[in-house]
Parts: sequence; C-alpha cells; structure tokens
Amino acid sequence: MKRRVIIIVCAVLCVMPLSGLLAQGGMWLPMLLEKNQKDMQSKGCKISAKDIYDANNASIKDAVMLFGSGCTGEFVSGEGLVFTNHHCGYGQIVAHSTVEHDYLTNGFAAYSKQEELPCPGLTVTLLQYMKDVTAEVLKGVSKNISEKQRESIVEQNIKDIVDKVTKGTNLSAYVKPIYYGNQYILYVNKIYKDVRLVAAPPSNIGKFGGDTDNWMWPRHTGDFSVFRVYADSNNEPAEYSKDNKPYTPKKFLKISLKDKQEGDFTFVMGYPGTTKQFLTSYAVEDIQNIEDPARIKLRTEILNIYKAAQEESPAKRLRYASEVASIANGWKKWQGEVKGLKFLNAVERKRQQEVGNPLMPQFKQVYDANRKYKMENLYIGEAVLSSDMMINARRLLRLIDLSKDNSISEEVLSNQAKSLAKSLQEYYDNDFTSHRSVDSLVFVRTMKIFYDDFAKDNYVFLRDRMNKISAQDYFAMVYKKTILNNPEKIVKVLNNYKRKDYKELVNDVAIELLSPIMGQYINETSKHLRENNAKLDSLYRIYTADYLAKFNSSRKSEDVSMNDGVFPDANLTLRVTYGNIAPFKPKDGVTYRHYTTIAGIMGKEDPNVYDYVVEQKLKDIYYNNDMAPYGDRVAFIATNHTTGGNSGSPVMDAEGNLIGLNFDRNWEGTMSDILYDKDLCRNITLDIRYCLLIIDKYLGAKNLIDELEIIK
Ligand code: ARG
Ligand code: ASP
Repeated sequence: MKRRVIIIVCAVLCVMPLSGLLAQGGMWLPMLLEKNQKDMQSKGCKISAKDIYDANNASIKDAVMLFGSGCTGEFVSGEGLVFTNHHCGYGQIVAHSTVEHDYLTNGFAAYSKQEELPCPGLTVTLLQYMKDVTAEVLKGVSKNISEKQRESIVEQNIKDIVDKVTKGTNLSAYVKPIYYGNQYILYVNKIYKDVRLVAAPPSNIGKFGGDTDNWMWPRHTGDFSVFRVYADSNNEPAEYSKDNKPYTPKKFLKISLKDKQEGDFTFVMGYPGTTKQFLTSYAVEDIQNIEDPARIKLRTEILNIYKAAQEESPAKRLRYASEVASIANGWKKWQGEVKGLKFLNAVERKRQQEVGNPLMPQFKQVYDANRKYKMENLYIGEAVLSSDMMINARRLLRLIDLSKDNSISEEVLSNQAKSLAKSLQEYYDNDFTSHRSVDSLVFVRTMKIFYDDFAKDNYVFLRDRMNKISAQDYFAMVYKKTILNNPEKIVKVLNNYKRKDYKELVNDVAIELLSPIMGQYINETSKHLRENNAKLDSLYRIYTADYLAKFNSSRKSEDVSMNDGVFPDANLTLRVTYGNIAPFKPKDGVTYRHYTTIAGIMGKEDPNVYDYVVEQKLKDIYYNNDMAPYGDRVAFIATNHTTGGNSGSPVMDAEGNLIGLNFDRNWEGTMSDILYDKDLCRNITLDIRYCLLIIDKYLGAKNLIDELEIIK
C-alpha cells in the first residue's frame, strides 16, 4: 500500500511541468504587465496593463506608494488623502496618544485639515518610473572576472546610473537586481516628507482579534488608518511646514461599494518585501528543520514571559503590547510556514527538480559550510540581543571600543558617553524597577537556550566558565551584578566619562560576556557569512538563468506571458499580483467562506478577553441597522500572491476601483514566500465598506467621506 503511494507521488512529480515545481502565484513587474494582460483578462480583468502602469500618463501606479519603510498606501482623493493599515500607522497613532487624548484606545478623526497631526520622520515614496538597466549595470562584466571584481564593477555602474538621473533634481533613485543579478531595474522616486495623521479607528476595531486572530481566517479586524500627504506650492516634496498644501496626486482610486462575489477578479498593487521561490532544497530544509524551529523555540520563551507579565495588570498589558505584537507576528508566521512546507512536501519537490543539476554539489557544500554561521547570526539576533540589558550592553561595548582608539578625542568620547547616559536615564526612568524582573527572565532564559543549543559546542570561552557554575546560575549572576543593573552608578560613570574609564568597564560581567561574542561575530562570522553569501549569489545567478532558459524554451512561442510562475522574487519594489475571490478548505470536511460580516464580530465578543472587546457604539450601529449604504461586510479573501510589505495595498476590482485594503494572509498559506499554492494560499483584505462604515458612522468624519469618489 505504502509503496503504491510513493510510486504515484513520483509519477505526479516526474510529469509535472517545469513551472509547476516552482512557486505559482506571481508578483509582476508593473512595467512588463502587458505580458500578463491576456491572462489577467481571461481571469476577468476589464482594464489594460497600461491603465495600471504607464510611465508617461497617469495610471494606477501613481495612486500607490511605499508607506514609511515597509508598508503600502494609496491615494483615495484629489487632496492627497491616503488609506493604509492600522498596523502600518500604529507607531504614529501611539506617538500622538497621551493620557488625555488616547487616540489608540478611542480612535481619532480630523474634522478639518487644521486638526490633522504632523508625523515627523514619516515619508511616502512615489515611483515616477522604472526601467531595465541591465546592459548598463553589466557593462565591463565578463565571464572571466572574479565575483569580487564583478561586484565592484556593478556597484560603480549603479552609482553612475543613479547619479545621472538624480543630479540637480529632487528625485531619488536606486537600482535593484532581480533573478539574482541576471537583470537590474532602476527605480526613480519622489519622497514626500510632510505626512499627517487624519483618522484611525479605536484599537478594539483596528486591532480586533489581536494576536489571537493574527494570520488567521475568518478575520474581523478593521485594520485601517488614514493619512494625508502635503507638498509645497508647486506640489513637490517639502519638509513639514504649515504653509504646505495637500498634495494633488496624478491619480487617485475611486471606491466601489458594489457587492463582490466568489470568483470575481481582483488585483493588488504594492510593495511586497521578500519572497524566496528559487531556494534550493538545502535551504528549504534548513529553514523548515533548523532555522524556523530555533526562532520559534526562543520566541515561545520570550512570549511566555511577556504574557505572564501582561496578566498582572491592565497597565502591564499595555506596556508589553507592542513588543508582544511584533514578536508574536513572526513566531506565528514561522509555525504556519513550517507546517505548510511540510504539507506541500516542499523539500522533496525541490529535490526532484534538482536531480542531475551539476550545481547541486556546490550548493550543498556552501550550505553545509555556512550553517554554523547562519545559526550564530540567528542566535545573536533572537537570543543574545533579545533583552534590553544586552542591547544596552552592546551600546556600552561600542563606547569601550571607541575608547581603545586613540585617534578619537576625549571630547568626542565624553559626548558619546553623555548621550548614552541620557538615553539610559530615560530607559531607567520609564519603569525599570518593575521591568527589570521581566527583562532578566528574558535574558536568562534565552541565553540558556542559546548556550545549550549553540554556544556550548561553539564557544570555548563560555563553556570554560561553566565549570564551577551552571549556565542558568551564571546568566542570573551576570544580570544581577552588571553595572547596567545599577542605574545610578552607570549614569554617573557615563556623565563623567574619561577614556581610562573603559578599563574598569571591560571588567563588567555583561561586557565580559558580550565582548567575545560580538568580537567573534564581527571578526570571523560576518566575514564567512559575506563570503558564503557571495558564493550563493553567484550560484543562484547561474541556477536561475538556467532555469529561466529551460523554462522559456519549453514554452510555445505564442505564449509570451510570464504568468506561469517565473516572476522575479519580491524585493520591496512595486509589483502587481492578481487573482480571484475564493473560499478555501483548511482541512478535510471544512470550507471557509470567502467573506466575513459584523455578525461575526458580535459572535466573537467577550468583554473579558482584550482581543475580543466590542465597542458599544459599534453594537449600536449594528443592532440599529445603521449601516447603509455600506452594509455589514468586514473582510474577504482571494488568491492574490502577497507578502509582508503588501500591508495597506489597494485591492482593486476588474475596473481598477478600490474594494479593500490588503492586510494579512491565512496561516495555512504562509509558506507562500517559499512555495505558493493556489489551493492553500489566500490574501486577507479589509472590505472597503467596513472601513467607510467606521469612518462615517463610528468616527463621524463626513468630511472625509465627502472627499472620496464613491461608486455605488
Ligand atoms: N500578520 C500581519 C502582518 O504580517 C499583521 C501584523 C500586525 N498584527 C498583529 N496582531 N501583530 O503584518
Ligand atoms: N501583514 C503583512 C504586512 O504587514 C502582510 C503579509 O505578510 O501578508 O505586510
């Protein structure tokens, strides 16, 4: 019986077309979208590729922006009004919240432009155009040169290209490789710096379901916030000024309130961060069996500590809310990723695809050699630098290292020390007396795991210290005795700092622990990582080029579309992905409908569970049936291939009208960054009608509704 199954699996894999072994899905370059047009239209799209991306005329791309440094936003009015996610605007909402004006808890709306709140540091980036510059970037690169030479030629050529397009302008530009350096694309942008907060729902709406529902469907999160971009009198980027005017976008999105059905075409334009569809079986195996599990194990410990602290009081719940949200986000995603990779048999599928490829032994060799360094890097990020104490110790270590350099003057050292003293003082003033017990637990538990799972076998200096004392006791001792656990003393030392003081500080127990770890990392590990990654880059460049060549020759000549699965991996540049609204089957016997409604919010309500508190006002709106013309839909799912960075992206219908804001994926589909599967992977979209319902009926911001162009 078993053997038969294996034979069947092999038969399926062996006849599978080349494209089927790579991820399906696709995040397409807007400038090449014409290649997808036929496919898009066959799936229901009613507009042309040029309506979406046109370098010379206003197109949908002019309505879409990189919001901050890792999210997407879109213009929804002629006066620079922007929609994005609540979790993308979260930092700004928190920054403007005080005890008197708790916008995070209560929500916020500006009822006139004067009430909009400036957000220093927040930028939006608007793409002007993109261009294939492969020939210019590779000028002077030949087959016979070393990888190092190639790197330096490419770097210089890129610099020249960027200088040429930006010199004497207010443009900024960068060139990014695609297909591991087989092609290079130039992106020319304008960066707007005066961005103001306009509205946000209360967090019981914007974060409804919290980390419990994160990465899950069915979902009921009202994950939106509203901003406005301002410009100078010529509509150009400018620093914040009260004289700035709302930016007039070349294009803004109209909003459709029409009902959406299963099967309807949708597309998403935005800034997906990273996908890794070309990874070899060795890399996927490491991720699935070593890297993700190590990360999950460490974060489970940290989360348990923070969550226990949160149970102590509502104040502590708030205190750790944003740490928990960000730690839990990756933690939960990686669990889904491991499950999904196993379910899809990703490693085996990759292996099948690699059979006979002469590059594989080289890949294996580099991955084997690099594993230790990769893990060291992972442990330093996830364990060694997971406690505030060690982060502060690293800053202190930098001061010590500077002090050893005699070319640095006493004055510079003293200024550096004073600024460290100031920021430490702020940290201690915050809530150090109560936070220290939590932080010390994080330190001891993560260091213990790091020691047992990695350091014991790799750091002789640490193992030697554990002769007379257990690792647990050693780390507990370090936390207790370090000068960083003595606010008065360390602040005093730093405020009166002289070069010679470093000789005292190097003997501190935390520095004694951290210094050799960082020393090894900087002097050894990072070098190996750089070298091995360069080797991998060049291997992947050949591997991908081969793959693309085979793929192209296996296609019929009339099939010029790129829509069979060989898109360039996401790299935080503007992309288009498309699909259809669709339910999905998480397991045998269960089908999840493609949309959710406010009834589901009321169903989840639990006044005793923070994630499920429902605001009275929302209940009134719902039970009084005061939802016209928006209705009761909350969210929907579709087969668009998205990833981190797509949050806030406009989800559009066949005509290019805005129907929702992308904000997440389903848990069962989070392996889509490595291997997409159209049956399992769904993007989760906030229905635009729920967003408008909250702006209109909950926040009462009719002024904003009036700005929008709504198609009923
Ligand atoms: N999972 C979504 C994304 O990766 C949302 C994250 C924010 N929400 C949260 N509950 N932590 O960004
Ligand atoms: N929630 C993610 C983001 O913030 C989107 C995703 O990973 O699907 O970009």
